[in-house]
Amino acid sequence: MGKTVLITGTSSGFGRATAQKFHAQGWNVAATMRSPDKETQLTGLDNLLVARLDVTDPASIDNAVRATLDRFGGLHALINNAGHGGHGIFEEFTDGDIRGMFDTNFFGALNVSRAVLPHFRAHGEGAIVNITSLAGIVSGPTSGVYAATKHALEAMTESMAMEYAPLGIKVRSVAPGAFATGFTSAYRDGSAEIGDDLKPYADKLRQTIQGVIRDMYANAGEVSLVAEKIFECVTQETPFRNMVGQDAEAVAAGLSSMPRQEFLNQMAARMSGG
Ligand SMILES: NC(=O)c1ccc[n+]([C@@H]2O[C@H](COP(=O)([O-])OP(=O)(O)OC[C@H]3O[C@@H](n4cnc5c(N)ncnc54)[C@H](OP(=O)(O)O)[C@@H]3O)[C@@H](O)[C@H]2O)c1
Repeated sequence: MGKTVLITGTSSGFGRATAQKFHAQGWNVAATMRSPDKETQLTGLDNLLVARLDVTDPASIDNAVRATLDRFGGLHALINNAGHGGHGIFEEFTDGDIRGMFDTNFFGALNVSRAVLPHFRAHGEGAIVNITSLAGIVSGPTSGVYAATKHALEAMTESMAMEYAPLGIKVRSVAPGAFATGFTSAYRDGSAEIGDDLKPYADKLRQTIQGVIRDMYANAGEVSLVAEKIFECVTQETPFRNMVGQDAEAVAAGLSSMPRQEFLNQMAARMSGG
């Protein structure tokens, strides 16, 4: 029968690469996405089910999990990958913008975990890998809302890793740095109107940060590195948190080599063009 993985957000980027990685390794794959009707590449592959799943829609989650169990007879791993970003300083985001990003990046991952955990517990095995971010380890100007969603998911990952290990279930995070996927083009920036007292500053800061981000993306690694790290988390022993990408590794090294405040001071100077 083989092992089965369910992955969210497989229409592009890490999700798609991860579906292809598990499939190439002989796993059954439930490649879930919001608009399966638009999918052409994954549809029709052996041992791969393309199913509709919106992480903010519990009924679609239940349907996709049921369809996976019906098709493959089991489920052994969940990859909580679906997510989106967005930039802006705090007052550029409405309450609705912030809650919307949490709904997908944080509550969405919890919704799907909630749906699969009874099955994992009944069989005394399973793995959940949450895709967080470098922004889930350290925040920065204009990335506060996105970083907050990913810090929250890091926190749940650590707690759940400890809570569920005695039940035979692994919970891990993969925290990528910058990789060229559909991520930046899917940004949903804040929609709040800000006044002239703030706008020039907010626009200038955004421009500076965009320059830093462009540099990060210019040096980005292959998207397949993230898929490989996710596969490793499911199939091998790894720490709870797994950073991937040169920039993420450099930040991890910086944070462990100096007091956090010193690291943040250096980062703030760089981000302000200093
Ligand atoms: N690329 C990076 O530099 C980077 C770095 C660190 C972390 N990440 C994280 O990596 C994950 C994957 O992003 P990516 O870089 O591969 O970007 P991507 O190519 O934009 O992929 C994001 C995926 O999430 C899906 N999605 C968004 N909202 C959803 C919802 N409500 N329900 C189900 N699926 C939804 C998108 O589907 P649609 O096609 O329907 O929009 C898409 O398939 C995200 O969690 C992101 O925060 C990315």
